[in-house]
Amino acid sequence: MNKRLQNKVALITGGASGIGAAHVRLFSDAGAKVLVCDVQEELGCRVVDDVKRKSGEAEFFRLDVTDESNWKKAVAEAVGRFGSLTTLINNAGIFIPGGVESESNEGWNRVVAVNQTGVWLGMKTAMPELLKSGNAAIVNISSLYGLVGSPEGIAYHASKAAVRAMSKAAAVEYARRGLRVNTVYPGVIKTPILGEVPDYMMKALEEALPMGRIGIPEDIAYASLYLCSDEAQFVTGADLCVDGGAYAI
Ligand SMILES: NC(=O)c1ccc[n+]([C@@H]2O[C@H](COP(=O)([O-])OP(=O)(O)OC[C@H]3O[C@@H](n4cnc5c(N)ncnc54)[C@H](O)[C@@H]3O)[C@@H](O)[C@H]2O)c1
Repeated sequence: MNKRLQNKVALITGGASGIGAAHVRLFSDAGAKVLVCDVQEELGCRVVDDVKRKSGEAEFFRLDVTDESNWKKAVAEAVGRFGSLTTLINNAGIFIPGGVESESNEGWNRVVAVNQTGVWLGMKTAMPELLKSGNAAIVNISSLYGLVGSPEGIAYHASKAAVRAMSKAAAVEYARRGLRVNTVYPGVIKTPILGEVPDYMMKALEEALPMGRIGIPEDIAYASLYLCSDEAQFVTGADLCVDGGAYAI
């Protein structure tokens, strides 16, 4: 495989599972050194073992993205182990269902803390090291639900729309300082975040999608791979939907 991320050092949040784990594997195959960050230690270490079996370079670091002091340690760990930090994937996220009236304050605060504040803290604490590299990229993982509505999760929609706005603001703020910031919007992707979806519901969902299927985690990781590679050096503040055409209807 062409080493499109040679000389890159990536910190990937939510790297123990689903879309994040696919990023770890793909980025490592493409030549990046990866710090796999998550609250799920055992799963994260398994992803690291997979990478090492293929002679890639990765380490696990237990990071709760809501905790700023923990973020500082994660960034220091990436630089200490791999010598620099060039790439940040803010991917960790949670979904808690709840409508406008049924959502609790606690549920709202939790979703916003992880999906929204976590992304800001990541950009904030990683920024000094990213800027030092002179050729850095951030990809923030939002959701199609950051662009459209549904009756399913008011806090999730709000937090994912905030990711879009924060990405744009940061893209403009750092455009002349060697740092690009882009947003990827997954459609429905088969990962643990979906929970148990009965077969009949999954079939109905797939039939409603233009491509007739839901996505796999690698679909998202390939989008980020492009955005973090030097092929995308004129791309910042962009929105990339990876959703089998869902946003087109
Ligand atoms: N799967 C989908 O259909 C879909 C659609 C749109 C957007 N997304 C987004 O993609 C991202 C990845 O989700 P996924 O589908 O791979 O789900 P997932 O549940 O498999 O992975 C999410 C990961 O985030 C980690 N995480 C949760 N809270 C954390 C915290 N406080 N600190 C650090 N890590 C934490 C979890 O431990 C888990 O490993 C999320 O931001 C999600 O909102 C997913």
